[in-house]
Amino acid sequence: MTDSAKSTAAPTAASGGKAWGGVFNVPTDKRVEAFSESISFDRRLADDDIDGSIAHSRMLADCGLITAAEADAIRDTLEEIRQEIASDQFTFTAAKEDIHLHIESALTERLGDTGRKLHTARSRNDQVATDLRLYCRRAIDRIDAGLLDLQRAFLDLATREQDLVIPAYTHLRRAQPVLGAHQLLGWCEKFARDRDRLADCRRRTNIMPLGSAALAGTSLPIDREKTRVALGFATTAANSLDAASDRDFVCELSFVLSLTAVHLSQWAEEWIIYSTDEFGFLNLPEAFCTGSSIMPQKINPDVLELVRGKSARTIGNVQQLLVLLKGLPTAYNRDLQEDKEAVFDSIDTLEAMLGVAAPLVAGTAFARDRINASIDRGHLDATTLMEALISEGVPQRTAHETVGKLVRRALNAGCTLADLSDDDCRSDYAGWNASLRNALGASRAVERMVSFGSTAPAQVAEQVAAWRQRLETAET
Ligand code: ARG
Repeated sequence: MTDSAKSTAAPTAASGGKAWGGVFNVPTDKRVEAFSESISFDRRLADDDIDGSIAHSRMLADCGLITAAEADAIRDTLEEIRQEIASDQFTFTAAKEDIHLHIESALTERLGDTGRKLHTARSRNDQVATDLRLYCRRAIDRIDAGLLDLQRAFLDLATREQDLVIPAYTHLRRAQPVLGAHQLLGWCEKFARDRDRLADCRRRTNIMPLGSAALAGTSLPIDREKTRVALGFATTAANSLDAASDRDFVCELSFVLSLTAVHLSQWAEEWIIYSTDEFGFLNLPEAFCTGSSIMPQKINPDVLELVRGKSARTIGNVQQLLVLLKGLPTAYNRDLQEDKEAVFDSIDTLEAMLGVAAPLVAGTAFARDRINASIDRGHLDATTLMEALISEGVPQRTAHETVGKLVRRALNAGCTLADLSDDDCRSDYAGWNASLRNALGASRAVERMVSFGSTAPAQVAEQVAAWRQRLETAET
């Protein structure tokens, strides 16, 4: 090859400076540029794109495909470009389509032929797949840390409310009494499962597609193991066709985030209800409430309502991604460009939700006096009384019916079960004895619990300690 054959050929007029100019006779229509650009949203992959390119160029040098000096120059110039992007000094234009072409063309403008070597043994297909995996991996770690913060806030509140007895509900009707801590630790469990799902999703995200090139791999002697180690991926994708188009990790992450958002929406709804005047169980921190522009007295739970409301878009994003992938033929198709906005939106939404959820929980207190004042309403001790009868040998169905009659008697008299006289009780249950009164009252009902995982004070104390241990030593 002569020197001139090796040197940079100026882009033809028809190519319009495009990376694929050679074969085209006419420039791209401006309307197509506007329609097909992704730079307006994929610029947030800049850091990951640069990390990927630095690792790739170092590997090319190690394999003798470029020189070490060229790899150094590429790295230094990419770091310069990184700084310019971070400080808003970089110019983006739809004509350059996406973040990959922007960064590569900036490199080439500065380094000439050396820059033109970066894309050796690489395609934008494996490049974008790599960038997106790096981006999602970082997002997973940030969201996991946010969930850990939230769990810690719930645990701290549980520790403060460990001895408070509150009513628990099914069908939003008073059911049985529980310890406040038991209720709060229930949220820790849900978010622990979400974190577990995130970790699982991270495992399938942490696989390197780079080196798959367009779809078939490359005839150049690359070393994918070197790139894998440099980028911290756990494994290297074993099938180039699949790797260039696999977006399972995007769907999985979106689903995990949507289920997390659904959990957050359930919590938000519950606390909206608990903080109403009608319930009056919770005092929300004023800094996390907003007012009304017309009704001067209003202190509204808008933050919780938005947590509840924003969960909707994360569910929509999962749907969009699944439909996007449905029926796509093997390897890269441009449809895949549409994967980013959906998953970016779910990531942004979760980070925003978690950013307000943890401090809101930390600033919330239970309204102990109001809860105590109404704890005897709703016959919360009826189930425990039924179990006391069962302990005396009464068959469960009979015990249930007997206590049902006692509750009816109390309802008619407008009193609690404990207010019924021994004579009243004896007329519904001939074996009534004073010791059965030990099952009555919300606190006693809680204290009589014994089963693993129940609201028994000893069980809850163990759970508080176990969570403390688990969350203090947790790694993010
Ligand atoms: N902007 C594209 C995307 O996000 C990058 C890959 C383009 N590849 C191609 N062969 N046109 O998917």
